[in-house]
Amino acid sequence: MKQIQVNIKDVVGSVSMADINNLAGEAADAINKVNTGSGAGNDFLGWVTLPTDTNDALLTDIEETAARLRNDCEAVVAIGIGGSYLGAKAVIEALSDSFAPYHKINAGAPAVLFAGQNIGEDYLSELMAYLNGKKFGIIVISKSGTTTEPAIAFRLLKEMLETQLGKEEAAKRIVAITDAKRGALRQLANEEGYKTFVIEDNVGGRFSVLTPVGLLPIAVAGFDIKALVEGARKMENATREAAEDNIAMRYAMTRNALYRAGKKIEILVNYNPKLHYFGEWWKQLYGESEGKDHKGIFPAAVDNSTDLHSMGQWIQDGERTIFETVISVEAPRHEVVIPTDGANLDGLNYIAGKRVDQVNKMAELGTRIAHIDGGVPNIQITVPELTELYLGELIYFFEKACGISGYILDVNPFNQPGVEDYKRNMFALLEKPGYEKETAAIKSRLA
Ligand code: PA5
Repeated sequence: MKQIQVNIKDVVGSVSMADINNLAGEAADAINKVNTGSGAGNDFLGWVTLPTDTNDALLTDIEETAARLRNDCEAVVAIGIGGSYLGAKAVIEALSDSFAPYHKINAGAPAVLFAGQNIGEDYLSELMAYLNGKKFGIIVISKSGTTTEPAIAFRLLKEMLETQLGKEEAAKRIVAITDAKRGALRQLANEEGYKTFVIEDNVGGRFSVLTPVGLLPIAVAGFDIKALVEGARKMENATREAAEDNIAMRYAMTRNALYRAGKKIEILVNYNPKLHYFGEWWKQLYGESEGKDHKGIFPAAVDNSTDLHSMGQWIQDGERTIFETVISVEAPRHEVVIPTDGANLDGLNYIAGKRVDQVNKMAELGTRIAHIDGGVPNIQITVPELTELYLGELIYFFEKACGISGYILDVNPFNQPGVEDYKRNMFALLEKPGYEKETAAIKSRLA
């Protein structure tokens, strides 16, 4: 049976295999901390055994709730931000037809739309205009239940749905995913009688894609969440112990060896546009987990070959502080062959008869060789194909590697104190009750 593979041989030159292997002791300590909960942030380790802990009854409940929304709605809006948004968006984009948004929408195959991931007035206005007159449902997701962006989107869409259907019927089209007891959303959901799912205390937002946070929107989009969880279970089993063939450990050791050798930026590269949002999910996972105490690899992402025509110059030739991790998908879902043209005015007959993916693979290989020659170390992650099973493997792989990597870096990988600073300033500027002192302080700076 195939599974995802990690190849680190093309980092040699910037670091040696000995540099990487020298981190084996630190990596073994780190994996021990992740597995036993003996490190910083150990109250947020619920994700470690989440795939094997997830029972069929929960998955069936999610599938039945999704089936009801699919049956009742032409569009379902998933409201959430950060970890309450990116995982579902990443998986849905990876598995969807690239032109799904332009296909006619039908009940039974509703469009899954997103809101609450920004505070763009135009975005919300245009979303509401699109939903006007359509049968729609809402999945509102917030672990804390108090995040401003999704709360604003939910207030607007809830009012719209209640105006359309009346309060009682609207409540049947709303599902809330939040804390078991705490937060404004929990209170609101209890009072309005919404169907709810719980985000456990011990799973942080950016590690929550395999909870109902990610699984419900993914199921509403029509994808097989049991296969996704199955893939994650396989990777949970494959990366449990400290061992030479533990690919999560190997990736974590390699990126830390590169960081210590001055490679401060990691770009996650794809050659398949369906993976754009996977890069966004990965950026949050690593950025929020490792960017602390004035340390941490800066996570960036590019979509190739598109970005070879923009960021390619910098990557090939800019400051040599960068390394790349390429997600290489072995088999595309469809087959398109380049036709022969009698006139050959575009000069492309030399690739006639080849599949588009063969050309893409040569772009990938040619770029890898150019980057290695140019001093950009390359880690290659091979994924057999974009299916629920392999995405489940990939998600868990990156999560486990992130926990290990954060501990090797000697930070707490599971908190995000830096995220609070902008919120305090925003609340002070908006004169939120309880922020009177901060309001006075920030206004005096602006005077
Ligand atoms: O990873 C995290 O914890 C954050 O990015 C949160 O997911 C994000 O801030 C949203 O928080 P909440 O789900 O509480 O609304």
